[in-house]
Amino acid sequence: MRLQQDTILITGGTSGIGLEMATRLAERGNTVIVTGRSEDRLAEFRRTHPSLHALAVEVTDRASVEQLYRAATAEFPGLNILINNAGMMQAIDFATASVDHITDEISVNLAGPVLVTQVFLPHLLEQPESAVLNVTSGIAYFPFEKAPLYSASKLGLHSYTQSLRAQLEGTSVAVYELAPPRTTQPMFSGSEADNAQVDRVPMMPVADVVAHMITGMRKNRSEIRPGMSKLLRLIGKIRL
Ligand SMILES: NC(=O)c1ccc[n+]([C@@H]2O[C@H](COP(=O)([O-])OP(=O)(O)OC[C@H]3O[C@@H](n4cnc5c(N)ncnc54)[C@H](OP(=O)(O)O)[C@@H]3O)[C@@H](O)[C@H]2O)c1
Repeated sequence: MRLQQDTILITGGTSGIGLEMATRLAERGNTVIVTGRSEDRLAEFRRTHPSLHALAVEVTDRASVEQLYRAATAEFPGLNILINNAGMMQAIDFATASVDHITDEISVNLAGPVLVTQVFLPHLLEQPESAVLNVTSGIAYFPFEKAPLYSASKLGLHSYTQSLRAQLEGTSVAVYELAPPRTTQPMFSGSEADNAQVDRVPMMPVADVVAHMITGMRKNRSEIRPGMSKLLRLIGKIRL
């Protein structure tokens, strides 16, 4: 992908990695639409980034995703890149966790990107050159026991991404995976003790993760694993 003059929709683009993707991709001459759930954050994004676009979606809700699809493709018929970035990570103790707590994480990290891709795919297949990029994680390959459903849902997304790529071979849709390592954008919600363990892991600046993503897509690397993620993938393979 040239990543110039493309029209790119990023789920979860109002903060963190998605926000950095949005600003860097817009600087390259792309039209960028971000999404989020919180109306306040969307309003703040519109105020601080007047040349970019923002639409609301709940990625786990089919009606909301279909509404996003109608709004985005009506206003941006040339939309040709979908980045499934929205995600969440929480510490879970199975002995005490509620069912809602557990299903939320699987819904946002795995069912969400699958649903969004499913709804946007017919449109992407009509574009001369298009792409889906799914954001997984380095700990998809090497489970982090404090956040078991995060690792499991991201490994599921990794596997789904591989199958999607195989099924779309020969079409106009290229399928990419970005597996960031731990970054300077904190996302883990856990106790002080949990966080003390996480704090030992080195962090990659979010800007570097996004630079790896842009270079990787431009070089047509289907699996982009910046920094520690490469090592985690290797260790994960040896362990299996
Ligand atoms: N941060 C890291 O160190 C790290 C490392 C590896 C992988 N990743 C992955 O990178 C991605 C981005 O992480 P981040 O740390 O930048 O996240 P973040 O700052 O917490 O931002 C998450 C974004 O996703 C949106 N979002 C969350 N749940 C959603 C839902 N159900 N429906 C629609 N939008 C939703 C949020 O919007 P609202 O605020 O409006 O809810 C927000 O815009 C995630 O997939 C994460 O798993 C992150």
